[in-house]
Amino acid sequence: MRVCGLFRCVFLIVLATFLCFSGALAQSKKVLYPDLAKTKELIITRGYSKAALQCIQCHAQKTPGIVEDWKSSSMARAGVSCYDCHVVPKSSPMASQCKGVKGSNIFTSPMVSPKTCARCHPSEVEQFEKSAHAALASQPVVKGLVKLWRNLEGGVFAGMDPQSPLTTAPRQSGCQACHGSQVKLGPDHRPTKDSWPGGIGHRYPDGGIGNCTVCHNRHAFSIAQARKPEACGKCHLGPDHPNMEIYYESAHGQKYLTEGEKWNWEAAPDAWEPGDYTAPTCATCHMSGIGDLSTTHNVTERLKWDLVHKKSVVRSGQRGDGIRGRKLMRKVCLNCHSSIFVEAHFNKLDNSVALYNFYWEKTAAMLSQLKAKGLLKKDKWNDGIQELAYYLWHHNGRRARQGAAMAGPDYAHWHGFFQMFQIYKDIQAIYNYRLKNGKIEDLSTVMSTGPY
Ligand code: HEC
Ligand code: HEC
Ligand code: HEC
Ligand code: HEC
Ligand code: HEC
Ligand code: HEC
Ligand code: HEC
Ligand code: HEC
Repeated sequence: MRVCGLFRCVFLIVLATFLCFSGALAQSKKVLYPDLAKTKELIITRGYSKAALQCIQCHAQKTPGIVEDWKSSSMARAGVSCYDCHVVPKSSPMASQCKGVKGSNIFTSPMVSPKTCARCHPSEVEQFEKSAHAALASQPVVKGLVKLWRNLEGGVFAGMDPQSPLTTAPRQSGCQACHGSQVKLGPDHRPTKDSWPGGIGHRYPDGGIGNCTVCHNRHAFSIAQARKPEACGKCHLGPDHPNMEIYYESAHGQKYLTEGEKWNWEAAPDAWEPGDYTAPTCATCHMSGIGDLSTTHNVTERLKWDLVHKKSVVRSGQRGDGIRGRKLMRKVCLNCHSSIFVEAHFNKLDNSVALYNFYWEKTAAMLSQLKAKGLLKKDKWNDGIQELAYYLWHHNGRRARQGAAMAGPDYAHWHGFFQMFQIYKDIQAIYNYRLKNGKIEDLSTVMSTGPY
């Protein structure tokens, strides 16, 4: 918190210097951005350069919604404008010209990557890049699971032309909007229609990874918004990670839903503490400064378990540091609960994780035994036992684990363990049948929609 005050001071000076230079930017071809580290002259000016004013004035006519929204932001009050985020050097791979600047020496881009934000918010971007919200988030769309969205969801298996752009429609409207993908550029240096915009881990041609606007919607860039659970619920919901539903069900969510309108959402960054609110939101537990913890944009930092993949393990390497993660998360709770209460909660979570792992390991053993005997179909989406195993892990098993983690008993139980034991019994029955008869049953006995 103290650090933050100092940071902001330095910030305004840096910003002012930047704004002074930004006028010169238009004329100069060599100096793309001022080298702030080498800048000695510090002049505070709150005004906008002539070039920056042009953008605002014309866009107030052409896209008034954007300008009005931006006016409400703390950045507008601090003098950060369209120019600072959307003007790029001519040499940038993303340089094009909007209708209003055609023919001038100003180049703009509709894409704004975290590299731009990092000029003024370096630590937020650095933390964000370490989290699973960055490169890991877009990895499944960029590298893996291409088969799922193109062959299966894109209908190639049913006869759709593999070259058809329709096959990527599910990727664009689904995965990419949450996870992000890779921006591709057309010959005009503008993004292709299918590759932009994108979700939280979107990858930009300038090498930047991430989309800060998913939690701080443009152009208000509000921290109050990002502190509310709905900012996360945009992606963290549904059958396979119902974090929003779990939260609403929890006692924390109950307080948020019944008292939240009276809370102080506008406290300064890193100074949002109990008293401003009476129960935590997603941001409080996973990101915000509380007590002696500082705000972090690394949502991986406070986690112990991996509650997503087939087997839950204590986090390590690229996925964080689980031992430290638990210590940090515990600190969050101790602002409002006693240690005996908090231990009871984490004991419940650790036992739930172990029980889930027990079910999963036994399932995996059955599958590998059947596989060795040639009793699994190649196409897992046409094979009851494999579909069931998927649901055991991907839907019900996640709900059970995450429900236990965040105090949502309905998800831990009814949508979780209750359905898991039934799925497990069906898996057992099919396994026994195949072993006994030495063959795969003719038709899958499983509804492909799976248990919800
Ligand atoms: C703090 C940085 C910032 C400022 C200031 C800013 N923008 Fe943006 N703008 C963004 C980001 C981030 C995006 C999303 C880009 C992406 O998805 O790659 C965006 C997207 C856009 C888009 C394309 C999306 C759409 O809805 O059509 C337009 C147009 C735009 N901004 C115009 C403006 C105008 C006009 C101003 C000044 C009033 C402005 N911006 C100020 C960061 C900024
Ligand atoms: C004279 C009017 C005018 C001026 C000045 C102007 N713009 Fe635009 N801008 C437009 C119009 C018109 C569009 C197109 C809107 C559309 O496509 O519907 C546009 C589009 C944009 C877009 C969306 C991407 C694109 O290229 O179509 C961005 C980003 C943008 N302007 C930023 C800026 C910035 C930054 C400045 C100042 C350096 C600026 N504009 C100055 C009129 C203007
Ligand atoms: C030219 C410098 C500059 C750039 C570029 C910039 N910001 Fe900012 N940002 C600021 C300043 C200055 C503030 C105001 C700080 C304050 O009010 O204390 C701010 C405030 C914010 C806040 C709100 C903090 C608060 O206290 O309310 C958010 C969120 C934010 N910026 C996000 C972004 C994002 C996302 C980007 C990139 C798309 C970006 N900024 C680009 C300078 C910048
Ligand atoms: C509604 C937003 C949303 C959509 C749509 C979505 N996902 Fe996800 N996905 C998430 C969230 C949120 C998580 C993280 C869950 C957690 O950590 O509990 C996730 C987790 C994952 C993971 C595990 C993370 C990892 O790094 O291994 C993979 C793989 C994945 N999704 C792939 C996909 C693919 C492929 C698609 C499209 C076919 C898709 N998702 C559609 C939101 C979404
Ligand atoms: C997962 C949601 C999320 C994403 C994505 C996100 N932020 Fe934030 N951001 C938050 C929350 C929550 C806070 C408020 C923390 C608090 O309670 O003080 C915040 C606060 C901020 C602040 C205020 C200063 C601070 O550190 O508290 C800035 C600046 C900021 N974000 C910039 C960014 C930038 C730049 C990006 C993109 C790299 C980004 N944010 C992406 C959720 C997000
Ligand atoms: C635009 C979609 C989106 C939004 C908004 C979003 N997330 Fe995520 N989140 C994801 C995806 C996708 C993943 C999976 C990343 C992976 O593991 O590959 C994820 C993963 C996570 C994880 C697990 C990280 C890990 O290391 O496995 C946490 C915790 C998390 N998000 C918290 C939040 C919080 C808190 C917010 C709101 C302040 C939020 N998210 C907003 C998409 C989103
Ligand atoms: C009371 C604090 C608290 C609140 C509120 C909270 N979480 Fe969590 N969250 C946790 C804990 C504790 C874990 C499990 C940590 C561990 O692994 O030990 C967790 C786990 C997660 C995970 C699973 C991470 C993974 O992939 O393994 C995601 C995703 C997540 N939370 C997102 C959210 C979202 C989104 C919200 C709001 C809708 C939210 N959380 C609200 C404390 C909280
Ligand atoms: C800002 C204060 C605050 C923080 C931080 C906080 N909680 Fe809570 N928590 C509450 C309040 C208030 C209640 C509601 C008590 C009631 O039911 O009367 C509650 C309820 C709970 C409940 C439900 C208990 C019941 O009787 O139903 C659990 C479990 C819980 N918290 C666990 C945690 C864990 C674990 C953490 C840390 C990851 C945490 N809380 C962080 C304030 C907080």
